Amino acid sequence: INPGWPATLGPLHTQAGAVMLRPVKMRDAKAWSTLRIRNQNTLMPWEPTGIGSWAERHQPSAWPPLYSVLRSEAKRGSVLPFVIELDGVYIGQLTIGNVQRGAVRSAWIGYWVDASHVGQGIATAAVALGVDHCFGQVGLHRLDATVQPANVASQAVLTKVGFRREGLLERYMDVNKRWRDHILFALTAEEVTGSAAETLVRSGRASFH
Ligand code: ACO
Repeated sequence: INPGWPATLGPLHTQAGAVMLRPVKMRDAKAWSTLRIRNQNTLMPWEPTGIGSWAERHQPSAWPPLYSVLRSEAKRGSVLPFVIELDGVYIGQLTIGNVQRGAVRSAWIGYWVDASHVGQGIATAAVALGVDHCFGQVGLHRLDATVQPANVASQAVLTKVGFRREGLLERYMDVNKRWRDHILFALTAEEVTGSAAETLVRSGRASFH
């Protein structure tokens, strides 16, 4: 048993509706495939290069092997793979990865949201829920997020939750078939006053009810 997994987080209410995080499930295949294929143009510029075409990699039949890797990594405690739900409907994913214990106690956070639901504070609420869980039950001290300089929406999300820019990682990741620079954002537990969710509520970006 790993601290903080499995877990259901939220809801945190946004102008779009109730945002919750829950573990990925085997039966997410169809929703995952539909949204990933529909969002190819908005996702591909920011995502690690994969083998085969986008459509092939996101067929419903590609979910079970991906799901089983996520499930076993989650059992080992190295990944926390969440679905982002809006009013109970799958609209994206948020993943905490490379969970390191010991004296480092850190992980990275990554996320995506269906293009038809962007601009309503959903990713920001989801990241706040993830941050509070990591610094709470999971017992982590630091979260990293890496973002390409051109991905201004994602940088806005991280800034709203309190992440700081720490530097530029040159040619950091193979994304969309090239080595791309990424900005390293980070947040440590002592930088969060109360909770990240409370910070959003105080700034009028979300509510608890
Ligand atoms: N220029 C400036 N600001 C922008 C732009 C733009 N072109 N587009 C969006 N924004 C701002 C919005 O105004 C908003 O900030 P505000 O509330 O201060 O006005 C912010 O970006 C978006 O905040 P949310 O509404 O909470 O985020 P949303 O639910 O729209 O999701 C996300 C953002 C996750 C980046 C979504 O667009 C997406 O899935 N994109 C494709 C995948 C992706 O880039 N994922 C992140 C990869 S990096 C990482 O995972 C660490």
